[in-house]
Amino acid sequence: MTRSELEHVTRTYDRIGKRWAWNLVSLAGFQGWESSIRRRAVEDLRLRSGDAVLDVACGRGSNFPYLEDAVGRDGRIVGVDYSAQMLGGAEERVAKGRWTNVELVQKDAAEIDYSASFDGALCTIAMTVIPDWQRALEAMIAAVGRGKRIVVMDGCRPSGLARLGTPYAKFFSRIVAGNLDRDVIGECRRLLTNIEEERRMFGTYFIISGEEIESVELP
Ligand SMILES: C[S@@+](CC[C@H](N)C(=O)[O-])C[C@H]1O[C@@H](n2cnc3c(N)ncnc32)[C@H](O)[C@@H]1O
Repeated sequence: MTRSELEHVTRTYDRIGKRWAWNLVSLAGFQGWESSIRRRAVEDLRLRSGDAVLDVACGRGSNFPYLEDAVGRDGRIVGVDYSAQMLGGAEERVAKGRWTNVELVQKDAAEIDYSASFDGALCTIAMTVIPDWQRALEAMIAAVGRGKRIVVMDGCRPSGLARLGTPYAKFFSRIVAGNLDRDVIGECRRLLTNIEEERRMFGTYFIISGEEIESVELP
C-alpha cells in the first residue's frame, strides 16, 4: 500500500461524503436493499444488550441505528474512519439520534490496535476500499474476543445472469474507489472459523461472518 492510495481514497470520500452525495451513492449502490442488507449484517454479529462493537471504516454511521438497536443504551459503539468528511456525517447522525455511547476515531483501519476489546466487529462496503485491507481485516479480527463474531459485508463481481450488470459495477466501483478484484471472501474464509455466508442482490453483495481461529498452544 502506498501513501498515495490512502490519499486517493480519502480525497474520494471527502468529496462524496457530503450528505446529499452520500445519499445518492447509497441509493445507486443498494437500489432500495440497503436497510435489509445492513440489518442482516448486524444480526449476524449476534450482539446482546450492553455489548461493545467496533464498526471498521464506519463512514457516515449508516450502521449505527442497527447497532444501537442491538447493543442498547448500555452498550458501546466505536466507529473508525479515515475521512474527516465521512466522520463529520457520523457525528451528525450521532447527535440526531442523541446517542451518548458512540465513540468516533479518525484513523487508518490498518493501524487500529484493539486487543480482544469488543464483542463483535463489523465492516460494510469498505474492505474493497481500504488500501491495506488485509492488515485491516487482521486488526479487526484481533479486536474481537474469543467466540465473538466478525462480519464483513461488501460488493462482489456479478456472476451468472447478473454479469449483465458488470459495466455498471465497474463504473460504480470507480466512483467509490472500490476494487472488486480483491478476494475478500477468500481471505475471510482463511482467517475465520464457524463461517456463515450469504449473497444478496442477485449475488452482487455478500455477507460473511465467523469467529477468530483459536491458535493451538504448543506444550
Ligand atoms: C463505501 S464507504 C462505506 C462506509 C460505511 N462502512 C458504510 O457501510 O456506509 C468506505 C469507507 O471506508 C473508509 N476508508 C477507506 N480507507 C480507509 C482506511 N484506510 N481507514 C479507515 N477508513 C477508511 C472511507 O473513508 C469510507 O468512509
